Amino acid sequence: MSSSVKAYRAAILHSIADPAEVGAKHSYEYFEDGLLVVEDGKIVNVGHAADLLPGVCGVEVVEYADALIVPGFIDTHIHYPQTGMIASYGEQLLDWLNTYTFPTERQFADPAHAADVAGIFLKELLRNGTTTALVFGSVHPQSVDAFFSAAEKLDLRMIAGKVMMDRNAPDYLTDTAETSYRDSKALIQRWHGKGRLLYAVTPRFAPTSTPEQLDAAGRLLREHPGVYLHTHLSENRKEIEWVKELFPERSGYLDVYDHHGLLGPRSVFAHGVHLCDGECQRLSETGSAVAFCPTSNLFLGSGLFDLAKLEKHKVKVGLGTDVGAGTSFSQLQSLNEAYKVMQLQGIKLDPFKSLYLATLGGARALELDDKIGSFAVGNEADFVVLDQHATPLLEYRLRQARDLEEKLFALIMLGDDRTVKETFAAGRSVHRRD
Ligand code: GUN
Ligand code: ZN
Repeated sequence: MSSSVKAYRAAILHSIADPAEVGAKHSYEYFEDGLLVVEDGKIVNVGHAADLLPGVCGVEVVEYADALIVPGFIDTHIHYPQTGMIASYGEQLLDWLNTYTFPTERQFADPAHAADVAGIFLKELLRNGTTTALVFGSVHPQSVDAFFSAAEKLDLRMIAGKVMMDRNAPDYLTDTAETSYRDSKALIQRWHGKGRLLYAVTPRFAPTSTPEQLDAAGRLLREHPGVYLHTHLSENRKEIEWVKELFPERSGYLDVYDHHGLLGPRSVFAHGVHLCDGECQRLSETGSAVAFCPTSNLFLGSGLFDLAKLEKHKVKVGLGTDVGAGTSFSQLQSLNEAYKVMQLQGIKLDPFKSLYLATLGGARALELDDKIGSFAVGNEADFVVLDQHATPLLEYRLRQARDLEEKLFALIMLGDDRTVKETFAAGRSVHRRD
């Protein structure tokens, strides 16, 4: 076997289906003593170590004691320019944007600053086991150049875009319908499909775009099949009222985006906390996805995400951190908060559903499940080694656990960046905890 083959031995767990469709028990594969075989950055085999070891004679086998290997986490909504303003006190969405966000994003006119923050941001994602993210830049095209340059060096599968924003924001942070079209187009030509990088057309949200700019976003999507649409939707009640005032001719918030041709299988709408059944139905029939951002929804007091309603309408849902309104880069911490959001609605979030949301569900939301999100043979080898002994409490708690379900739940509730022992992207180690 060729020398580029390497195998990783530990407990291995991955989602293979949505628990909502097949039931939790049939939604995953688990190998207590498993082997993940990687060649040229791709997964070539996964299974029980006893079955696979004889076939990988002469191959280097890296063994991890007391570890669990899972697919790299997928963050379906995050803002890299907001890294430095995470945990900013006291406001709800619209005041939070004016008080903290816009002044912070202004700094990304400077390419050196953008490069610094892109480096810090990617390091933080990898420290937390996140190998793919759908990322907002700032309005400045150079912010996206800085981000993609840094991600390209690490050969990460990342999706990002320049914010389009031509009204209701400070002059220093606005573009126009025409310049946003031109700059986005140039970025698509420069970055979309380069290595593992993909582009997302990124109007911030309906209140900060004129109908002309939303038209320009629709044109970009039509002219560049394969690029994404990434924006915010129905996050906060005052925001929703404002959208009604700004677009009185439209029947609702989602209809604003629909009217401009922004719905489709590569469209991801962050939040969707206050959607009606009709909007869920429209998201579903267009194949659009929603990013559930629990730490952000709680932090900004936006409301409780209605996962059951979206599931009822078969809307694709991924998990997002939404840093800097979200309070953690960790998908484990996000799932911890997601569990509580569901508890407040009288619903139990199954730990295998949680795993699905952070991995295969995210990949499906991004239409990337033929590449990432599970250990299907041929997928890109993005994976995380979780340390079951990361803290004394975690070790002690897991020792009491009787089965995998209990173990996984405790790992989610008690886990964070300390739990991530090593992160691999395209088969290469990109983070190793001390
Ligand atoms: N809506 C418009 N912009 C933003 C943003 O930066 N963060 C969040 N959470 N919601 C938004
Ligand atoms: Zn956001």
